[in-house]
Amino acid sequence: MEQLLQQIEKYKQEIAEVKAETIEAVESFRIQYLGTKGLLKTVMGEMKNVPNEHKRAFGQVLNDFKVFVENKFNDLQQSNVGSEASAEKSIDWSLPGSFAPVGTRHPLTIVRNQIVSIFKTLGFAIAEGPEIEDDWHNFGAMNLPEDHPARDMQDTFYINQNPAWLLRTHTSSVQSRVLESQKPPIRVICPGRVYRNETISARAHCFFHQIEGLYIDENVSFADLKQTLYFFVQEMFGKDVKVRFRPSYFPFTEPSAEMDISCLICGGDGCNVCKHTGWVEILGSGMVHPKVLENFGIDSTKYTGFAFGMGVERICQLKYRVNDLRLYSQNDVRFLKQFTGAV
Ligand code: PHE
Repeated sequence: MEQLLQQIEKYKQEIAEVKAETIEAVESFRIQYLGTKGLLKTVMGEMKNVPNEHKRAFGQVLNDFKVFVENKFNDLQQSNVGSEASAEKSIDWSLPGSFAPVGTRHPLTIVRNQIVSIFKTLGFAIAEGPEIEDDWHNFGAMNLPEDHPARDMQDTFYINQNPAWLLRTHTSSVQSRVLESQKPPIRVICPGRVYRNETISARAHCFFHQIEGLYIDENVSFADLKQTLYFFVQEMFGKDVKVRFRPSYFPFTEPSAEMDISCLICGGDGCNVCKHTGWVEILGSGMVHPKVLENFGIDSTKYTGFAFGMGVERICQLKYRVNDLRLYSQNDVRFLKQFTGAV
């Protein structure tokens, strides 16, 4: 008993001298003396060895000791709060903050959104299809039977030969998807990525983006096609841009036409982008071939329609003067951050 009291006195002296100048040091004091396996708990444990007649007096000693240790802990904590507060005083609150930069949309996304919203105002809905397609949806249904020479127009990436699985070469494959699942009247645009086995250069890439349009109803004529595309060009590029249609060939449209707009880079004077012609092709189009409609059980004597497919990269090039297709997929922030603020 006497020994124990002496021991507690020793502890008190030892504790009185403890210094803690950091939050970590205060915490280790707490663990060492007040923690669940700390000194205070150990000393308290001695109670059971004390004879009954001394328990009351020893209880008082223990309680004093507990208060002593807790006071010391509070003092240490207090002096540390003080040191933090003085550190805070040295902060200059008038310094400008550091800004977290906001990300930007990819230019192709910006242009795709613009195109989609223009056609939305004309009542077109959005349709999508898979990037991995079968031969039928990409070619067969679009009136390109096997051994059709027009298949060579697009160098296809095949994933599997028999049955043929491939990366879609155009968004016209989504026409097939829509025609097999919807009945006329149909009015859709289909934005998406397409793939062709081309050597990558400033002018060609092995993947790019298209937006397909499909409009099927009774009495749809080539005049509707032209008017729709005129409207689109004026909304997209402004009223001063000139438009021309050139006869062309696609197996899934008849008649077919490609549409050019006057070159926005040189204003029609001639430059690299328009190959010194003053005109730039932006899309292929035509009246949906009756064979395509019949492939999906749509009566081609009752319904007619038009379709078009435009290249998003090309339109983006004209809009933002991007002169190298590769820039779109290199993830160079010096390129990408130039589009900050655009929606
Ligand atoms: N699918 C054609 C292409 O990729 C474009 C097109 C679509 C032409 C619809 C006519 C009608 O070149």
